[in-house]
Amino acid sequence: MIDDIIEFSRQAGSLIKEGFGKSLQIEYKTNEINLVTQIDRASEKLIIDLIKKKYPKHSILAEEGGGVKNDSEYIWVVDPLDGTTNFTHGLPIFSVSIGLQKNKETIAGVVYDVVRDIVYSAQLGGGAFADSDQIKVSSTEALKHSLLVTGFPYNIADNPENAFERFTLLTKNARGIRRLGSAAIDFCYLASGVFDGFWEVHLHPWDICAGKLIVEEAGGLVTDFVGEPVDIYSKKILATNHEIHDQIIRVMNTI
Ligand code: IPD
Ligand code: CA
Ligand code: CA
Repeated sequence: MIDDIIEFSRQAGSLIKEGFGKSLQIEYKTNEINLVTQIDRASEKLIIDLIKKKYPKHSILAEEGGGVKNDSEYIWVVDPLDGTTNFTHGLPIFSVSIGLQKNKETIAGVVYDVVRDIVYSAQLGGGAFADSDQIKVSSTEALKHSLLVTGFPYNIADNPENAFERFTLLTKNARGIRRLGSAAIDFCYLASGVFDGFWEVHLHPWDICAGKLIVEEAGGLVTDFVGEPVDIYSKKILATNHEIHDQIIRVMNTI
């Protein structure tokens, strides 16, 4: 099935690339910073049509609401365009993220980094890959030598879960912090050893599903902010190279 997931992601990526830099119809979702374009919707429709054609009995959970609920042990978890704000402003950092769960366990995940044309993929127990190269998390041992990445949810103005305080604290304790604007790419850069840690509050299942498996298969650890296991519905995500996990948790818990 991984070959199908890769193929579906690539087809969606081509559609997105064609739309990049062209005129967009932008609509607001929950508020004026939460955008959706015709390209998000077209990408979602393309992916859903492809899944339905090949796997008509499977369920699909997709960000823009086009999914289906069937009585199946399989559920596809789809972010048709992760990084819509970047895409809308012409910043070339966005992706397609597709995870596949069987009986609520993620068994495969693909994140297609559209502009760099890199397919990140993982299957449960099979390692993580950037195209055909196996990837591993970094071996950085100290938080003060770490490059971290984070993101902000669309309700950031309400400071959910003390997001601003956590950002300040980690900024003071790490070598540097980045904010790329695509959670799926954040996970993959962590899996590749570029970043040493990633955290965010109020992500959604389609932001998490594929990326979490890719990080875990690259040797990383994904928990909540106190080190407890998480699933794709969790509202606090901390993903690291394992080495710096406890150090970040200690800093976070001084809030
Ligand atoms: C968003 C991006 C962003 C993250 C937001 C997500 P979208 O997804 O992943 O990096 O900070 O929390 O909602 O809306 O571009 O698919
Ligand atoms: Ca997203
Ligand atoms: Ca999206």
